[in-house]
Amino acid sequence: MSLQDLQAAESKLLLNTYARYPIQITRGEGVFLYDENNNHYLDLLSGIGVSALGYNHPAITAAITRQAETLLHTSNLFFHTGTTELALRLTEITGLDRVFLCNSGTEAWEAALKLARAHAGMLRAEGKNIGTKFLALEHSFHGRTMGSVATTHKSAYREPFQPVMPDVQFIPHNDVAALRAAFSSDVCGIAIEVLQGEGGINFISEELLQTARELCDSTGALLLLDEIQSGMGRTGKWCAYQHFEVRPDITTLAKPLAAGIPIGAMLCTEEVSRAFSPGMHGTTFGGNPFACAVAIAAIDAIKQEKLLAHNAELGDYFVAKLKGLQTKHSVITDVRGKGLMIGVELADAEIAKQIHQGMMDRRILLNRTHETVLRFLPPYLIQREHVDEAVAALDELFTTHGKLTPSLAGEAAL
Ligand SMILES: Cc1ncc(COP(=O)(O)O)c(C=O)c1O
Repeated sequence: MSLQDLQAAESKLLLNTYARYPIQITRGEGVFLYDENNNHYLDLLSGIGVSALGYNHPAITAAITRQAETLLHTSNLFFHTGTTELALRLTEITGLDRVFLCNSGTEAWEAALKLARAHAGMLRAEGKNIGTKFLALEHSFHGRTMGSVATTHKSAYREPFQPVMPDVQFIPHNDVAALRAAFSSDVCGIAIEVLQGEGGINFISEELLQTARELCDSTGALLLLDEIQSGMGRTGKWCAYQHFEVRPDITTLAKPLAAGIPIGAMLCTEEVSRAFSPGMHGTTFGGNPFACAVAIAAIDAIKQEKLLAHNAELGDYFVAKLKGLQTKHSVITDVRGKGLMIGVELADAEIAKQIHQGMMDRRILLNRTHETVLRFLPPYLIQREHVDEAVAALDELFTTHGKLTPSLAGEAAL
């Protein structure tokens, strides 16, 4: 089907939830994607942080084939080894004790919110004074279901669906005094993305994270760290919170966890896990043998190929190159990030749009978030030569940005 036919058919058949780029992807290999005319694209977005091992990675393809020939689904009424094998790996890499497996990021975050509320209920039953309120941060993004949008800051994602889950207060990002002022025994959980993705690549300060930990410890409230975009090695550690000396009560993983197969995971401490008992929470597809087998293969490949160290090293290289561009082009107001989660902030949303479009025209894929931030979430397999290609293209575009004309329609929604 041609791109034009696809666009016409989709516009009649699918709900109008995404503004797609006018590109039809037909296959991928390594860090490249191909369209129907066999043009290749350097992928610096990995399907919004999902395809960590690029495309057609032999370990992932083998795990998919093996598991498809054996067993795809059992339901959670029966045992299979995949859940335990995966949980062993996830508890080891996160430092937490127990795992709930599900199918997406927002589902993992919903499980986290429900567990925090149930935990507070359990503490109340034990005679403690603790409420039901969540504190969340400005510019946060936690997903699209009702609890997740309630803790997501951007009003466009939340307002049309009011009333969403009540009892959420937003705190300015990294404002320690505001966090202290908002905290009380009413709070059952503090919700934090350690490295905000959709909000424009904003790293949490050590002071805010430590303060949140101390405040939670003072009442029995829980520290919920969302690692759905920043986790699974992207920043050079398995979880971004491991750059600090902080252990959360709950964390969530998804996106790259099974390198392209839908999966989510919520992990918690032994103490917190007491709040769930059989029947309180569940999901039909969660922990199915297929997704577990692929996630196990993805984790093992990340370890075998030493990709955490690679991500840290390549990230430093990428950031240094981008900072070099910043010294040449005053329109770049900031370069920030950790490992392979990088944002380039530009002075103006229109310029950001044009630079982004210029990169897409050069068949280098990235996206624009928070209006003015170019976001890079490349597969963990990128090499210096790919960084050099992207930086050279950016350099050329920044030099000529005044002459650019928009050629790609629309801005893709998440
Ligand atoms: C930090 C964070 N949390 C939660 C989500 C929601 O994940 P999903 O889209 O898989 O539901 C996302 C997705 O972008 C995210 O970046």
